[in-house]
Amino acid sequence: MARIAVVAGDGIGPEVVAQARKVIDTVAPGFSYTEYDLGAARYHRTGEILPDSVLDELAGHDAILLGAVGDPSVPPGVLERGLLLKLRFVFDQYVNLRPSRLWPGTASPLGGVKPGEIDLICVREGTEGLYAGAGGTLHRDTPAEVATEESLNTRHGVERVIRDAFARAAARPRRKVTLVHKTNVLTHAGGLWARAFAAVAAEHPDVETEYQHVDAAAMFLVTQPQRYDVIVTDNLFGDILTDIAAAVTGGIGLAASGCINPTGAKPSMFEPVHGSAPDIAGKGVADPVAAVLSGALLLEHLGRREEAERVLGAVAAELSARTPGAPLRTADVGDRLASTV
Ligand code: NAD
Ligand code: IPM
Ligand code: MN
Repeated sequence: MARIAVVAGDGIGPEVVAQARKVIDTVAPGFSYTEYDLGAARYHRTGEILPDSVLDELAGHDAILLGAVGDPSVPPGVLERGLLLKLRFVFDQYVNLRPSRLWPGTASPLGGVKPGEIDLICVREGTEGLYAGAGGTLHRDTPAEVATEESLNTRHGVERVIRDAFARAAARPRRKVTLVHKTNVLTHAGGLWARAFAAVAAEHPDVETEYQHVDAAAMFLVTQPQRYDVIVTDNLFGDILTDIAAAVTGGIGLAASGCINPTGAKPSMFEPVHGSAPDIAGKGVADPVAAVLSGALLLEHLGRREEAERVLGAVAAELSARTPGAPLRTADVGDRLASTV
């Protein structure tokens, strides 16, 4: 039976993870869960962010279910880098998979788009780019201050995520991959991405390809999101584009993600795209659907496709039954989902 590590984290993380766990447990009973107390509270109590001993223990699990990380009481970056990004990097979760679909019953802020018409996945590179942390600050707090932030792009890292995107596209009905970058300005990294993309594309004559600069892609995601099937892009562009994709498909409360290590050598991690939402934390009004759908990605990753489909079916029913504007209670949604999967 699968061993799941649960890192509920900060803010609404524990609220939404509890609901996701309820749903997973209903559809796939018998998994074991180990809860890890990581995040702002532990940092304040002990100064620890992600002790090596915990990292070792996490490595022994089949998957990690994570809520959200980050709190206004902790300086920005401490937990995000020290906990979340460290997990993605150490476990080499290079495929940051972010599906966006317009569910039946969900309103898009875009007029005239029907449910089902938006169905895209963003394959966001998860271990490199500007997130690698290279750079520095000179002459800090003087008028001469200089800050650099370097983007790391390796042929190995870029090619493997592009390869994954093509494999996913080849298994989807539309079989199309859009590379998104900024090759007109970022000529070094952009050139590498474009060459790696062309090389992998040559191995997949059956997959349609397209290239867009990231500024144009940001626009088309709002004006014509239907045009996308699989998007492959670097770490930061993918971060931003997937919030846009979430916004046009009913909001960040529905957006799921998987931080996947396709080799299986290290555990993959499943988490909502959203953060700890300090503005609504503790009120019981966070939408747990993003966490529940992340649970479905976890199930699929563990080979439990049928159970994952049941979760998707329950979510579709839940969203179809919602009255726009009606108040939402986290626990009620979780209970309804758990009772219908
Ligand atoms: P956020 O996603 O936490 O919140 C943005 C807005 O979306 C807020 O108004 C929030 O109330 C709303 N929202 C988010 N999730 C929701 C849900 N499930 N239901 C209803 N509304 C929801 O982003 P932010 O405000 O930019 O960041 C807050 C903190 O979270 C920061 O510390 C940030 O670093 C962190 N963060 C963590 C993750 C992660 O753990 N994966 C992701 C993004 C941000
Ligand atoms: C996300 C978040 C993270 C990211 C932050 C919190 C490090 O925004 O998961 O989308 O930028 O990847
Ligand atoms: Mn983000």
